[in-house]
Amino acid sequence: MADQIDAHPRLLEYVRNISLREDGILRELREETMALPGGTVMQVMAEEGQLLEFLVRLTGARRVLEVGTFTGYSTLCMARALPDDGILVTCDITQRWPEVGAPYWARAGVSDRIDQRIGEAAKTLGELAEEFGPESFDLVFIDADKTNYGNYYEHALTLTRPGALIVIDNTLFFGRVADESVDDPDTVAIRDLNAALRDDARVDLSLLVMADGITLARKRP
Ligand SMILES: C[S@@+](CC[C@H](N)C(=O)[O-])C[C@H]1O[C@@H](n2cnc3c(N)ncnc32)[C@H](O)[C@@H]1O
Repeated sequence: MADQIDAHPRLLEYVRNISLREDGILRELREETMALPGGTVMQVMAEEGQLLEFLVRLTGARRVLEVGTFTGYSTLCMARALPDDGILVTCDITQRWPEVGAPYWARAGVSDRIDQRIGEAAKTLGELAEEFGPESFDLVFIDADKTNYGNYYEHALTLTRPGALIVIDNTLFFGRVADESVDDPDTVAIRDLNAALRDDARVDLSLLVMADGITLARKRP
């Protein structure tokens, strides 16, 4: 079978130059975020943001749920791909980071599509199930604390309609998942989720070797 090519820096630079369409608003938000503590590690790669926008359009999603807003780069990518009557509910434990992104959402004209929820995401997701009902979201993007990923995934399965897409970030976790000598709680949580997903008959599955690993799980009807 054909093999994965090496993603050496020159090739990655080529891919960025030839395919990235990041506009001025997104670039400014990324640059402001990069100056924040942890900004470069936390925010999705620009290419991943573009993929998220693509996936929202591709699936025709009207209701999107994001777990882990940070400064709202991925939020903005997905919100701008929604139809006018679409909504994106985005959860974070703190208001500190989303308020950095809010002016950029406003500049892009998508603030009215973005519904922010502040608090422990596990609690918020339980509340959303009460508020919206089960099977009410078309796409979920999980990108928050890694030790809760399994919990967020189960909530996502409850909250999404059949055929919906669940996107999970950082599933290669800096490559640590493949090194059995690494056993910190974050790596173990992602490694366990990856193994559970492989055998989970509730979803179709693809793990993209892009950015820090992006898993696509489609909820089977
Ligand atoms: C990796 S960042 C999200 C990055 C964002 N998707 C982006 O592209 O800019 C993870 C976010 O999850 C939030 N977070 C961490 N633990 C959380 C929890 N228990 N509940 C809700 N949010 C949490 C953090 O405050 C942080 O903003």
